Amino acid sequence: MKLIAIINQKGGVGKTTSAVNIGAGLCLLEKKVLLIDLDPQAHLTYSVGIKAHQLDKTIYNVLKGDIATSDAIISRSIDVFLPFSKHSRYSGEFFVLPSSLDLSGADLEFGGIAGREFLLKECLASAGDFDYVFIDSPPSLGLLTLNALTTAGDIYIPLQTEFLALQGISKLLETIEIVRKRLNHEIKITGIIGTRFDGRKRLNREVVERIREYFGEQFFKTLIRENISLAEAPSFGKTIYEYKPESYGSEDYFTLSREILERKL
Ligand SMILES: Nc1ncnc2c1ncn2[C@@H]1O[C@H](COP(=O)(O)OP(=O)(O)O)[C@@H](O)[C@H]1O
Ligand SMILES: [Mg+2]
Repeated sequence: MKLIAIINQKGGVGKTTSAVNIGAGLCLLEKKVLLIDLDPQAHLTYSVGIKAHQLDKTIYNVLKGDIATSDAIISRSIDVFLPFSKHSRYSGEFFVLPSSLDLSGADLEFGGIAGREFLLKECLASAGDFDYVFIDSPPSLGLLTLNALTTAGDIYIPLQTEFLALQGISKLLETIEIVRKRLNHEIKITGIIGTRFDGRKRLNREVVERIREYFGEQFFKTLIRENISLAEAPSFGKTIYEYKPESYGSEDYFTLSREILERKL
């Protein structure tokens, strides 16, 4: 089981978009995938068409220890036709551990508990078996993100290929290093995802070069292009493959999903 935390304390860099569309992409490539929404804003949950505010069992109840993890997990089927790919027709189901606004008080509510950094890790023991588990984190380095980092073996960091992409990255790397030394020796950064790339802009190309110099092999070859369909899909509760299968966004995330499998990440 691959446990991957998608982290960046900056908002709007493509964490949730990547979690949804890499997760769904790997599902279409026949992997069993669980998406964990650890952001109190529940963007991931809504993005795949699950109405978080109507749920009575969410990750909040799981972290509190009130219910078993498997009781909150929702299955989501997917059936698509991808025009750019040989096999064209793909279907499957992926799984979602939904979030809830109740989680917004987590730092205060769970902050005083012994073992507070390991709440999610403990919950995963009763989640069931998956090939890939992706944890979508909130845009901060608080207790929830810390829980993602103690649970995961790998970290993917999405970076928007824009001005200041690497700003704040040293703080993030420092936090990861502290976690690695003190709480989770296994944790490593395996994937840097370049998002919202516009090859017509010189600045974007320069930023990509800088990210490549900085991270080398860790930087995925597949770049995710700026694509309006990716911004529209969440409001329809659809993955990019369902919403606009012929879009750049669909092609890029599917290619990235394949790259992840090829690199055995
Ligand atoms: N490649 C892209 N092209 C266009 N819009 C994108 C792209 N990736 C993400 N977006 C949009 O940008 C916003 C922020 O992305 P999101 O994945 O929610 O970031 P985060 O989870 O890091 O806050 C969302 O409205 C999303 O739909
Ligand atoms: Mg998000």
